[in-house]
Amino acid sequence: MILCTKFPRRQDYDNNRIAYNLNKSRQGIERNYFLRAAVTAHCMISLLVATAECALSECSRFRSLRTVAVVSIPSYGRIAFVRSTTTSTTKVIGRASSLFVMSRTHSSGASAGNSHADSGEKMAKLIPSTPSSLANAGARLRGDFRTSSKPSTLVSFPTETVYGLGANALSSDDCASIFAAKRRPLDDPLIVHVADASDAYALWAADDISLDALRVLAARFWPGPLTLVAPAAPCVPSIVTAGTGHVALRSPSHPVARALIRAAGVPLAAPSANRFGHVSPTRASHVLDDLGGEDVWVVDADDACGVGVESTVARVDGQTRIVTVLRHGAVAKREMQEALEEMTSAGGFVVESACRSAGGAVQGPVAVSPGQAVRHYAPDVTCYVVSRCAAAALMSSVEKSAPEILSRAVVIDYGGRLSALQPHCLAYRDLSENCQPKEAASCIFDTLRWSEEVEGADRVYLPEIILEEEENGRDDGGLLWAVRDRLTRAASGITISELQ
Ligand code: TXA
Ligand code: MG
Repeated sequence: MILCTKFPRRQDYDNNRIAYNLNKSRQGIERNYFLRAAVTAHCMISLLVATAECALSECSRFRSLRTVAVVSIPSYGRIAFVRSTTTSTTKVIGRASSLFVMSRTHSSGASAGNSHADSGEKMAKLIPSTPSSLANAGARLRGDFRTSSKPSTLVSFPTETVYGLGANALSSDDCASIFAAKRRPLDDPLIVHVADASDAYALWAADDISLDALRVLAARFWPGPLTLVAPAAPCVPSIVTAGTGHVALRSPSHPVARALIRAAGVPLAAPSANRFGHVSPTRASHVLDDLGGEDVWVVDADDACGVGVESTVARVDGQTRIVTVLRHGAVAKREMQEALEEMTSAGGFVVESACRSAGGAVQGPVAVSPGQAVRHYAPDVTCYVVSRCAAAALMSSVEKSAPEILSRAVVIDYGGRLSALQPHCLAYRDLSENCQPKEAASCIFDTLRWSEEVEGADRVYLPEIILEEEENGRDDGGLLWAVRDRLTRAASGITISELQ
């Protein structure tokens, strides 16, 4: 029985289902959104508009989700119907003992007392980060809840860098489901997460010299945002190494990640929990936006991903005595060099960057680290890096005549380099007004996802970051490199010298 139809149009109704069609205009295109909830015929639905405000505040940390209405349904408790502002998928979040996200219709056979988990539908489920909930998630990762109709064991969890999409690293089948859920190509190897350095040595088959360096680096930077690549032990499935013979290991510092790895009792393979090529997630809501239609549990933790960009990836080679930085993150090249020099047993190692730069363009990582495609971390709106010269010219000219396209543009800035565009563009944010790489890294992915939400935006302008260290002939290799790398990749490597 429907007491109130607040929605614009009822699209479909039969004995077991209601569906509503919500229209939303975005970029001039009218899109249809379908809200579907499986409701058994005897189910009482009451629209609790009065509690919508309350649900909205409960859901307020899901910045990209807007509550449309709240209903109470026996067997589910209160359910908040929410609409994602970042994707074309409408989601339904239920709040009973935990939150459920549905991207498809419940099976019509669902009856009072049945949980959505029995319905056979694929959907993400948000779980709290309490000890009992993590113990349950650990059991799921071990395969304890696997059935033939619900084979997934995936759990997405927060780390200090970004959210990961985890599975048992020792199971090829479970790792295969990571690739399927993300639509990720199989030539992109997975990082394996361990609780402690002592758990790592069974997964590497490195020579003694490499092991010396690995021990030094793990002792200095673990737990933390450093991933170390070395030859893999035979127990590591080739799907994890992408056939490279090398495995990347890291021990995350976030307590929820550590508790989950311990609860699972197995090492966890986990790439960033975004759909392949999209912006990495730093909030549970980002994971739901990308993977809400997958059978994955998502551990909800506030303010988890403080670093904000993925770990530094470094390969250790004992034969050449070279440590190669394959991806820039919070652990700087210089810090690794210093750590290695302090330890005489691992002495003689040189830390090099595979990501050399010329004229501001990042080169190299494609050749040395599988999976580091130039287009990566890309929002669903076209991004351009505005060259430093163009930004300087714009500062003087844009006041006189602002190009019309600026009215459809979002500007993401760093240190006010593009601030002249602010009065003329659709929306503007500065990653760090005071040029603090740490501050910029902590909000870069959230800001890139925000740019997708801006109504009417059809392009995003990003600043070109020239590294002072590079200009002075020095190479710091820290977070500023990481920020520049992510911005360059968001723009698929495209730098423009005039606005287009
Ligand atoms: O901070 C992080 O590292 C996050 C969190 C979840 O831990 N994980 C992450 O994973 O960023 P992912 O899959 O999005 O990026 C892993 C990258 C690969 O694309 C590849 O470039 C490199 O790490 N990598 C992994 N295994 C490798 C290997 N065996 N050899 C060389 N590079 C490898
Ligand atoms: Mg990734």
